[in-house]
Amino acid sequence: MAKAVMANDHGAVELAAKLRKHLEDRGIEVVYLGTDKEESVDYPDKAEEAVKEFRKGGYDFGVLLCGTGIGISIAANKMDGIRCALPQTAYSAEMTRRHNNPQFIAFGGRVDYAENPEKILDAFIDAEFEGGRHQRRIDKMMALAGK
Ligand code: RB5
Repeated sequence: MAKAVMANDHGAVELAAKLRKHLEDRGIEVVYLGTDKEESVDYPDKAEEAVKEFRKGGYDFGVLLCGTGIGISIAANKMDGIRCALPQTAYSAEMTRRHNNPQFIAFGGRVDYAENPEKILDAFIDAEFEGGRHQRRIDKMMALAGK
């Protein structure tokens, strides 16, 4: 069974619940780190918790959410070896998996997506990394850290 870690701040409680249910309906095991409350929490803390959980191993991908998806994706991308994409469409979600192979996908709970977020998530999950020249580019991208 596929397994995902999910975490969000207070800006995405509702969308996190929807996407969590969607994943579980697809038969994907979700380790949910919250928050499921409206009280304010800091998105860098949630990104750090999720990445540390992911690094324990056994996960296929992770889902991060905040109000825009921007803060939590930037925070995750600051952590060693992590790529977190923030696609706004199903096309971008598919292509980021095929070309950038991110471990994490981010969403914004306050964003008015033109496409259903479940469809965007499905496009990410159902795509496969193409390797080859894309791996070379990922290696170059990751080698930019610390420059
Ligand atoms: C929290 O108010 C908000 O700043 C956060 O959810 C996110 O949108 C940051 O990028």
